Amino acid sequence: MFADRIEAKWIRMFQDALVRCGVTEKSLVGIVAETQSRELNVHLVELAAGMIGARCFKLVAITPPVTTPVPTRSNGTSMALIGLEAVLPALAACDLVVDLTMEGCLHSPHLRPALAAAGGRAIYILNEHPEGLERAWLSDADVAAVERNYEMLAAARQMTVVSDAGTDLTIDLAGQVATRVTGVVDRPGAMGHWPGGLVVTYPAAGCVNGRIVVDAGDINCTFKRYGDRPMTLVIENDIIVEVIGDGVDAELFRAYSAAWNEANALTTAHFGWGMNPRAKWESLAMYDKRDTNGIEARAFAGNFLVGIGASSVAKRDTQNHFDIPLRNTTVKVDDITVVDRGRVCFPAVDAA
Ligand SMILES: [Fe+2]
Repeated sequence: MFADRIEAKWIRMFQDALVRCGVTEKSLVGIVAETQSRELNVHLVELAAGMIGARCFKLVAITPPVTTPVPTRSNGTSMALIGLEAVLPALAACDLVVDLTMEGCLHSPHLRPALAAAGGRAIYILNEHPEGLERAWLSDADVAAVERNYEMLAAARQMTVVSDAGTDLTIDLAGQVATRVTGVVDRPGAMGHWPGGLVVTYPAAGCVNGRIVVDAGDINCTFKRYGDRPMTLVIENDIIVEVIGDGVDAELFRAYSAAWNEANALTTAHFGWGMNPRAKWESLAMYDKRDTNGIEARAFAGNFLVGIGASSVAKRDTQNHFDIPLRNTTVKVDDITVVDRGRVCFPAVDAA
């Protein structure tokens, strides 16, 4: 579908993204990549940093051997930097680290600690083709709307989610860690991915109960496919105690989860909602799997994003990971309806 060559429009786009993250001609930008990274994006970051006048270098890890029983995709837990812990602290000297490892180091145990002590910041671009990035941009007003939704979520005590398909979920937010993703990483210690446009909470342990119905048309980002038959997840105190459904999606879900042979494979991790008006549900149908890493599917406006797998907040570890954006749900945070049947409805403009 794509000719993977440099386009001037993409250099400008990456330049804008770096400037939004506070990169200037005085900045030091560190690229973290691996030998299997999308070379096009590595080159675009180099050229964009150069156009700004920033100094830039790259750390390219040799992609390590596969040690997992099943393939991993779109899980934010790159193992590309394993064994490089001795050199990673040098990255803390950077004004911005750009993560271009295939799966990204958002949840990995390597990059974050190396940067955290020095307040370093990182943006994860992951394995997205620049054409997707080109469409799913956020305006300054969109970024401000995400920030307002985040502030409201961070102060809330309960989230409830229902749908005509049968979802009926209650999440106690006491002890939660809320976050937001805007593609703008300009504060010390900030880490996030681009493109952005979602707010997310990581609930504390034992706070999630109810049923999630993954309806036909909802997306499993691990498999990068739309569901074709409904699947119901029955959840008791964060644990998925039953997976109901006889379609291929339910069979894949069960088989993939079981392949890890891990006690915490079927536990909840995070929940949130998409707010990016230019990210589109239907886009996944247009790309080969190698051309997207599923960030657009997570960010399209009005989806309720279900995250299954590891959670440092709930103190559970597993390599199993599913992000599942649901359509047509109604999401309430305390007494505020933030998504009404799949439409974002918390004030999208600053009332002031
Ligand atoms: Fe996730």
